[in-house]
Amino acid sequence: MTQAPPVKPFLEVLAGRLQPVPPLWMMRQAGRYLPEYREVRAKAGGFLDLCFTPELAAEVTLQPIRRFNFDAAIIFSDILVVPHALGRDVRFEVGEGPRLDPLDTPDKVGTLASTGDFTKLEPVFEALRRVRRELDPKIALIGFCGAPWTVATYMVAGHGTPDQAPARMMAYRHPEAFAQIIDTIVESSIQYLLGQLAAGADVLQIFDTWAGVLPPREFQRWSVEPTMRIVQGVRRQVPDAKIIGFPRGAGALLPGYVEATGVDAVSIDWTAEPSLIREKVQSRVAVQGNLDPLVLITGGDALDRGVDDVLVNFAGGRLIFNLGHGIQPETPIAHVEQMVKRVRAYKGSL
Ligand code: CP3
Repeated sequence: MTQAPPVKPFLEVLAGRLQPVPPLWMMRQAGRYLPEYREVRAKAGGFLDLCFTPELAAEVTLQPIRRFNFDAAIIFSDILVVPHALGRDVRFEVGEGPRLDPLDTPDKVGTLASTGDFTKLEPVFEALRRVRRELDPKIALIGFCGAPWTVATYMVAGHGTPDQAPARMMAYRHPEAFAQIIDTIVESSIQYLLGQLAAGADVLQIFDTWAGVLPPREFQRWSVEPTMRIVQGVRRQVPDAKIIGFPRGAGALLPGYVEATGVDAVSIDWTAEPSLIREKVQSRVAVQGNLDPLVLITGGDALDRGVDDVLVNFAGGRLIFNLGHGIQPETPIAHVEQMVKRVRAYKGSL
């Protein structure tokens, strides 16, 4: 008789089966707040070298699991490896964030490769296979990509911007050229996500960090529709693929996003209104979130209150406990331990 595979609490929640204690992980959990990450990062050379060295990428993926025994590991990579596969020049300069060759005129868009060279991303797939082999079978493995809108904000501007003005301007001034960038990212992201599933990812997350700067009509066109096309494209090949969306800052537009895209879960930031989320979002899909990462830096009573608020607001339904955005590098490890302990002590009510 073959033994049934071990149950992954994370996937149970996505399937609609509530767990006594909500599964827990943190966005950007492999990163600079961990001394063991900083050590590997220092010997890897550049940031992309770390992403593309399977042994090291697998190691830093597993570091937060060893420390905190989270319910999910997220593969160590970056949303900007897709532009890299598309032949764009992507660099990460220390202390400055990403730098790309700007794609800010229709002429330049005309030169954009229509398909990526996915052999460049083979090291990410190899890192996934390694993590899969080493990971406790009760822990879910997350693959990811950026949503086309968010990836385009970096490709157009050539760097991070406070308000994503270059991409917004281009979308207004040159909607056809901008649509070509978006379409190219949609197709590449489908291939990239399918590659991650084939390499062992259990679930996929689509990060739309900058969704919240768009007016409703543009949100529909540049965030919702491209994300929906990715979800459908992935499911054409893998019908039961599990997908989490993260349209950060979408606020009142979240229910429409969930309905249109067909995601299995949505990650919410700390500004989300709890009753709207419970009634219009959690009633349909799982929610993931939404502790303010600054509360995690603060610690103490503020942290206990913040954790309790998430549990009171959402643990009565399908919840994956997480932050509302990535953990900040200055976060004390002791505060992460305090958060994990408090979530795991949850007894079904407070
Ligand atoms: O979550 C994880 O632990 C997995 C790894 C991961 C990274 N980036 C590693 C990383 C994930 C899921 C991302 C996603 C990502 N990358 C997003 C979407 C989510 C979010 O946080 O908003 C975005 C917008 C990016 C693009 C990006 N990468 C920026 C703007 C920067 C510079 C700012 C920063 O945080 O340093 C990066 C670099 C980056 N990606 C680092 C890490 C650990 C830091 C680089 C370093 O270690 O030197």
